[in-house]
Amino acid sequence: MAKKITKAVIPAAGLGTRFLPATKAMPKEMLPVVDKPAIQYVVEEAVQAGLRDVLMITGRNKGALENHFDRVGELEATLEKKGDTERLEKVNHSTDLAEVHYVRQGDPLGLGHAVLRAHMHVGDEPFAVLLGDDIIDARDVLLSRMIEEQGKRNASIVALLEVDPAVAHLYGVATVEPTEDEDVVRITGLVEKPSPGTAPSNLAIIGRYVLRPEVFGILEHTAPGKGNEIQLTDALMTMAENPDETGGVYGVVFRGRRYDTGDRADYIRAIVQLAVDREDLGPELRPWLKDFVATLD
Ligand code: UTP
Repeated sequence: MAKKITKAVIPAAGLGTRFLPATKAMPKEMLPVVDKPAIQYVVEEAVQAGLRDVLMITGRNKGALENHFDRVGELEATLEKKGDTERLEKVNHSTDLAEVHYVRQGDPLGLGHAVLRAHMHVGDEPFAVLLGDDIIDARDVLLSRMIEEQGKRNASIVALLEVDPAVAHLYGVATVEPTEDEDVVRITGLVEKPSPGTAPSNLAIIGRYVLRPEVFGILEHTAPGKGNEIQLTDALMTMAENPDETGGVYGVVFRGRRYDTGDRADYIRAIVQLAVDREDLGPELRPWLKDFVATLD
């Protein structure tokens, strides 16, 4: 029987070079999406799926992340004095959300290396990985579906999204076989960022994983791959090739809304889409947006 999953690991130690200079002194995971940093959406998603024990893998600018999930006495006192309970609740919400722990990655040697830093905290249990710059719309279900499949199959589970073949080279791409479940596939092959035109399918891995702890032993022996980084995709490929020892790898095909906030265009799309749907901002923004769109060629 698979052990119950209680821990979420959130890698947030990348350099965020696509967002320079904004990320010169701040992790990209702290960029605001409307009025919350991207990483708060990700922690909220973990908590929503029942994972209150969160380990963040942090990099050189970790201060902003730690401060965001900590108390700010002065600010709380000022809001309390003003009687601004609404904003006080917002400030306290991020503090009380989860039990957040931190570990430094040291050198950013790749996502696989970041995940390996979680070994001590996670121990010998299956666990979830949520990339800190990838937002899944809270109205769509993904992580709890993946946790359910992990329990059922005692395998490692990745999230897959059908992407335009023209952008497949930006992702880890899977070769798959169908299963008895319409939204679940068995992974038989994986390739990280295939050269344009060589992707084995249009099913790309997105930033949610539910992994068996065997991944740690495999990552320890995974040599640097694409971009000279230790790639989680390469370790998952080893797991897919050795199902007897590792339980194999399955993919849950996600058909909901997902925003890659580490990409500038997708970051802007995320803000617009989430803001127009909000009760407090939508009524003001929607008519303006319609007028603005009408002025475009
Ligand atoms: P990305 O490849 O999108 O992050 O990693 P990056 O390298 O920071 O981005 P660019 O290309 O330079 O703009 C996906 C996730 O993995 C984390 C990132 O923080 C992000 O959440 N990551 C990546 C690490 O924690 N450590 C690493 O060494 C690499």
